[in-house]
Amino acid sequence: MNLSSPIGIFDSGIGGLSVARAVREQLPGEDILYVADSLHAPYGDKSDSFIRERMHVITDFLLSQGARAVVVACNTATTAAIAQLRQTYSVPIIGVEPGVKPAVLATRSGVVGVMATPRTLQTHSFESLAARFSSKVRLLVQPCPNLVHQIEGLDFDSEATQALVREYVMPLLEEGADTIVLGCTHYNYLSALIARVAGPEISIISTEDAVAREVVRRLESSSRGESAAGSGRAAFYTSGDPAIFSKQLAHVWGPGEAVSSLR
Ligand code: DGL
Repeated sequence: MNLSSPIGIFDSGIGGLSVARAVREQLPGEDILYVADSLHAPYGDKSDSFIRERMHVITDFLLSQGARAVVVACNTATTAAIAQLRQTYSVPIIGVEPGVKPAVLATRSGVVGVMATPRTLQTHSFESLAARFSSKVRLLVQPCPNLVHQIEGLDFDSEATQALVREYVMPLLEEGADTIVLGCTHYNYLSALIARVAGPEISIISTEDAVAREVVRRLESSSRGESAAGSGRAAFYTSGDPAIFSKQLAHVWGPGEAVSSLR
């Protein structure tokens, strides 16, 4: 499908589709070009240099397809290397980072838990985000290995996924957290399960709507008031098996979308 000046959005897999959906809701007239780097998911156990290289390959592809803005719909990639991406390209590049700031505003107990990939929590950029708020709240970090694997397998509520969620959420509650940040876009698909495990008193913070608002703001300032460039279509690419991504897409986005290979 040929899109005119789409918004390019990418992630290691299906997590960024939750961001793409929020962008679609706030900008229904824009075309979206989505890339799932499924062959290399999860990013959470890759090195910074590998993730950086993939970000450049995918951004080059999105720009070759006419993208006028790029959304890095992945906390792991954003915290690893968004600064280098912005230095290289002149289009607006919007990233996703764990919603520590809204969590600090929401907490009553003063204890906030952040669930994220091990890689995100080890980055310098997450450490400086955490340091900015360390005088205001006690921030607990919870690396969640294997959770992305469950989500890529569309396993949102099996016994195994429930057990992992309990393993990651319970320590946060035991330490007094009343607010949990979903610091990985994949975890958005587990928000109902996480809320069930955590209980009704616990606030769950995700950032896809805030990211979509930022996309709106950046497009408004770069297009100087011109209206949407597209007609509300979406095209999907994967570096993995298109048949597998089609199934994932049908489950979390909707049926009937074509998927192409990213070579
Ligand atoms: N969705 C991603 C994030 O927000 C990436 C997860 C992964 O590939 O490990 O961190």
